Amino acid sequence: MFDIEKIRSDFPILGQQIYGKPLVYLDNAATTQKPQCVIGAISHYYELDNANVHRGVHALSERATAAYEGARKIIAGFFNARSPREVIFTRGTTEAINLVASSWGGANIKAGDEILITHMEHHSNIVPWQMLCERTGAVLKVAPINAAGELVIEGFDALLSERTKLVGVVHMSNALGTINPIASIIGKAHAVGAKVLVDGAQAAAHLAVDLQALDVDFYVTSAHKMYGPTGTGVLIGKEEILASMPPYQGGGDMIRIVTFEKSEYNDLPYKFEAGTPHIAGVIGFGKAIEYIQGVGFEAIAAREKELLAYATAKAENFEGLRLIGTAAEKACVLSFVLNSVHPHDLGTIVDREGVAIRAGHHCAMPVMQFFKVPATARASFSMYNTEAEVDALFAALKKAQDIFA
Ligand code: ALA
Repeated sequence: MFDIEKIRSDFPILGQQIYGKPLVYLDNAATTQKPQCVIGAISHYYELDNANVHRGVHALSERATAAYEGARKIIAGFFNARSPREVIFTRGTTEAINLVASSWGGANIKAGDEILITHMEHHSNIVPWQMLCERTGAVLKVAPINAAGELVIEGFDALLSERTKLVGVVHMSNALGTINPIASIIGKAHAVGAKVLVDGAQAAAHLAVDLQALDVDFYVTSAHKMYGPTGTGVLIGKEEILASMPPYQGGGDMIRIVTFEKSEYNDLPYKFEAGTPHIAGVIGFGKAIEYIQGVGFEAIAAREKELLAYATAKAENFEGLRLIGTAAEKACVLSFVLNSVHPHDLGTIVDREGVAIRAGHHCAMPVMQFFKVPATARASFSMYNTEAEVDALFAALKKAQDIFA
């Protein structure tokens, strides 16, 4: 049973008022709110266990290390990685992609090679590859999307070839909500010898991800879009690929021996974790994953599907509203433009009604260019949202429309 009242009570922030109205938080694609258990785990670490990891012999350091490495095991299990050695902690999705582009890309990409991405990528899955192409003389190819915001599979197939060395694809688009058929993309890419990086920043809180079943080479995501803290994320990669890659950053913890002549690097996963990591963040990330596991993806997916269907029906009947992103396979994101009201004005007006949405290009400018809009308003839902909150959104939109009429 999905107990919405219980779930909402787990998130202390949701109980507040904004401008005297109940907070309606519909900006979950930007960042999700944090349940008390995550906040508590972070406080617990700072109140009782704070120490550096992997370094001290004292009790606090041992406790901190156990909690940090415990989180790695939880995350490995959640994504069905082959081993915790495949789980590299990063600052988030963006750093994870930059790590792969810099380390794997630097060692494996040469002039004339091709990197294939899609037209619906977030800037973080575009710019690192552009930078790599500039450095190496490789070529960036972009698979097209259609008017519904879906990947055009024939277009993707036409661009995939023996020259493709890496496919970078978003699992679920933050700007459109589209869910991509990543299993078939991975199969096709492997058939031509290309590696695949999947950007799971939006997807991982909404869909079960089995990395062994997918056979994906690199999967990246951020804790803060999964009810965890900001500043923490993961790169999960196949061990044999990670082992063959040079370090991304040099410093403490990523080495075994240092002399002025030469340094010997540490084993996985530490080879890619130079410096003191975001220990509290990782511990909070592990707790957030346990929270998701406690609710269960079956219940989460069913609930979010209901909400999206409810909101989509309202949007379709709202005069002057154009939905941007109407893929058959989509989740939790309602991106739209409203006749005569700029998305930024819309965002500001609905905020006065207590409704938090995002307005802008959503770090996906090529998507805006494709749909010929400067920006969209975006409501993005999570398991703790309700139909009453969707109603509040549409009431606020009506108010904005009346103001500008
Ligand atoms: N990429 C985040 C978003 O979609 C920040 O809002």
